Amino acid sequence: MLAKVNSSAILGLDAVPIEVEVDIAAQGLPSFTIVGLPDKAVEESRERVRAAVKNSGADFPAKRIIVNLAPADLPKEGPSYDLPIALGILIASEQLSTDISDSLFLGELSLDGSLRHTIGVLPQVMLAARLGYQKIFLPQVNAKEAAIIKGVTVYPLASLLSLFKHLNGTESITPNPLIKVAPLFHDDTLYEFDLSDIKGQEQAKRALEIAAAGAHNLFMKGPPGAGKTMLARTLPSILPRLTFEEALDVTKIYSIAGLLGNESIIKKRPFRNPHHTTSYIGLIGGGAMPKPGEISLAHRGTLFMDELPEFPRHVLESMRQPMEDGFVTVSRARGRITFPSKFMLIAASNPCPCGYFGDPSHECRCSIFQITRYQKRISGPILDRIDMHIDVPAVKVEKLAAESKKPEVESSKTVRKRVQKARDRQLYRFKKLSITSNSEMTTRLVKEFCRLDSACFELLRMAVSRMNLSARAYHRIIKTARTIADLEAVSVISPAHIAEALQYRPKGE
Ligand SMILES: Nc1ncnc2c1ncn2[C@@H]1O[C@H](COP(=O)(O)OP(=O)(O)O)[C@@H](O)[C@H]1O
Ligand SMILES: [Mg+2]
Repeated sequence: MLAKVNSSAILGLDAVPIEVEVDIAAQGLPSFTIVGLPDKAVEESRERVRAAVKNSGADFPAKRIIVNLAPADLPKEGPSYDLPIALGILIASEQLSTDISDSLFLGELSLDGSLRHTIGVLPQVMLAARLGYQKIFLPQVNAKEAAIIKGVTVYPLASLLSLFKHLNGTESITPNPLIKVAPLFHDDTLYEFDLSDIKGQEQAKRALEIAAAGAHNLFMKGPPGAGKTMLARTLPSILPRLTFEEALDVTKIYSIAGLLGNESIIKKRPFRNPHHTTSYIGLIGGGAMPKPGEISLAHRGTLFMDELPEFPRHVLESMRQPMEDGFVTVSRARGRITFPSKFMLIAASNPCPCGYFGDPSHECRCSIFQITRYQKRISGPILDRIDMHIDVPAVKVEKLAAESKKPEVESSKTVRKRVQKARDRQLYRFKKLSITSNSEMTTRLVKEFCRLDSACFELLRMAVSRMNLSARAYHRIIKTARTIADLEAVSVISPAHIAEALQYRPKGE
């Protein structure tokens, strides 16, 4: 007899429908074959399914079993077909008789028949809802992640046996109630650092606020101990809220990477801090079963690259395109897939190998050759894509020692409110477009949304000739100025905004 079970596969960030067909022949020697481009993990499914079926108390038919994963031209990866295959065998061997055409099934089986955590559940539930399935059956541990999607009933499974009993009507499973996500976004999260913990550094804090408001990339240069790492780690506390659509995208990425843990949805903008020894695939993404790298895990959040010149040159080179496009293409055995990578880059660097070049209180021990080589390592590929550059000088000891926090020092909460208002203006401005922040504007959008008066033009014209700016730098200044104006809640960019934006160009550009 032939059984058909609906399942789905992950392709990049989204899911596509898969039909699992199980045929048990009346004649022929006992065998168990899976066809339809399965990878190794799917091949091994045979052993898991065989053991799980037996250990659930059912019969594993000693007949010729053929499993076809259709469509055949799509490569199938991972262990999530275990459950639909096992179910197909129970139906095809007539141990179970039920109509399952309105349901979708996925999940990895243990040898004892229990269901294991399976990656990429969220996109598959979204697919089920989109295709109009009534029910989805998946591992219990993934139910929280699935239950945020409206329109499809989520049945959490502890084991193959519990599914068997549910389908033959002896013991029904209670569906997971829909989790309302809106309230989750309103909890006041605690942050690692608060802006008010940082003494002095008014200029750096101002730059951090502008960068947060417009999602601009920021590069900090300064001697060791100046507080660059501390400043970067404070950034999450002043970033604007994730919108629900952004949160879904981010959650899909974490679901596929298997990093969702016990959360149902990612509520905070991610903050990723990869070490410079992280592998190429770890940073950019890829692998035999392609996984998103750090640049995608930082999607809609921050990628903090501390000690930027220490990262291998070819990694920095490979980040050029994703930073420009907002997505990264990774190759796989068959064809290529893309992951989103719209992140805000915060980079930090010492000015030279010893760290004290240009510091008035320390002598630099590096040769001019060493300094140039150090700075050159990052020059081309990345620096050109950074809107804001600042120097972070060391704070004087007396200032650090100053005991009590001055009352006029702003807390992250106060700054976050301003940032949110500025971001809300941007969301409104770009409501008909697919972008959400000023930093994402193309040249054409800069022309459309950043009208400049003659005084602004004059100032820019002077700066361009004096600072020898490129066309790209020119547009970056206008984008930054747009954000500065948004923080002031004014719609017209003034020369003062341009002048401040000009301060964030690198020296000697
Ligand atoms: N402006 C500051 N206010 C308070 N503490 C600071 C400040 N600057 C540096 N520190 C202290 O110095 C330590 C080293 O700073 P860090 O951020 O690691 O510097 P960098 O990354 O520039 O080398 C921090 O952990 C922090 O305790
Ligand atoms: Mg540091």
